[in-house]
Amino acid sequence: MCSTCAARVRLPSSPMAAKARRCRSSTFMTGKHKWWANGISPARQAALNVTGMNILLIGATGKLGSAVHSALTARGHKILTVGRTAGDLRHDVADPEQVTALYEAARAATDGLDAVVSAAGDVPYKPVTQMTPDDYLAAFRGKALSQIELVRQGIPHLAERGSFTLITGVLVNDPIPTGSAASMANGAVESFVRAAAIEIAPQRINAVSPTIFTESVPEYGDFFPGVRPVDLTDVAQAYVRSVEGSHTGRIFELS
Ligand SMILES: NC(=O)c1ccc[n+]([C@@H]2O[C@H](COP(=O)([O-])OP(=O)(O)OC[C@H]3O[C@@H](n4cnc5c(N)ncnc54)[C@H](OP(=O)(O)O)[C@@H]3O)[C@@H](O)[C@H]2O)c1
Repeated sequence: MCSTCAARVRLPSSPMAAKARRCRSSTFMTGKHKWWANGISPARQAALNVTGMNILLIGATGKLGSAVHSALTARGHKILTVGRTAGDLRHDVADPEQVTALYEAARAATDGLDAVVSAAGDVPYKPVTQMTPDDYLAAFRGKALSQIELVRQGIPHLAERGSFTLITGVLVNDPIPTGSAASMANGAVESFVRAAAIEIAPQRINAVSPTIFTESVPEYGDFFPGVRPVDLTDVAQAYVRSVEGSHTGRIFELS
């Protein structure tokens, strides 16, 4: 905890960290100190414009979204939260018309978006023999088309070097019984990310692909025997990497 500004600071071991440590004993925490404390020099901040971004976060009140919200807020970003039943803006992103309305509302609420971050997605789980065509369409709409539309419609609303970060999951390569619709939808998201990246530059696009969250083990752990879960704080850091970094077309796997 910085004694002068009450901000929690993580100190990486680097020359920047030394400056940050010095900041802890200063009597006044300036903005410049704060960015050193976050491990980002003022020069890099200016070059990459990685601080104080306006970020649209879909699914912000869910398990994953709450962790991503905390991580991005701690980095100094301003978050506009979205959900169907909770959040600053209430829209169902599985409906392309509501995605249009969402971006209009976001335009009215901010002076421009620097990143769009998705932590949402709904898919049905059933054995293949019980799935219907509507189930697969629901999975495609709920997890894939919803995120594809966030990108397709979001391009004109996003800063020139802004980024999209989508959510997929381990079931692409490591399926479980009853998970065929989820595997299908996640695969579509990952293929879309790789394909869109080569068209939308200098805007960027990545996906985060976690295995089961530690926090979800009580609910779904039986479907993942022997699988080591991943903590939501680690998943959230992959979002920070995607939003503030330089990569594009990447699937950040956490397994
Ligand atoms: N749980 C895991 O272990 C795990 C592992 C790997 C990947 N994932 C993926 O991570 C994502 C989030 O999982 P979670 O466990 O955090 O789920 P969660 O707790 O149910 O949260 C989902 C969030 O997304 C919002 N949402 C869902 N559909 C929406 C839509 N069509 N439009 C707008 N908002 C929507 C929900 O809010 P409203 O209900 O208010 O709309 C909620 O805030 C999912 O895509 C999931 O497949 C999860």
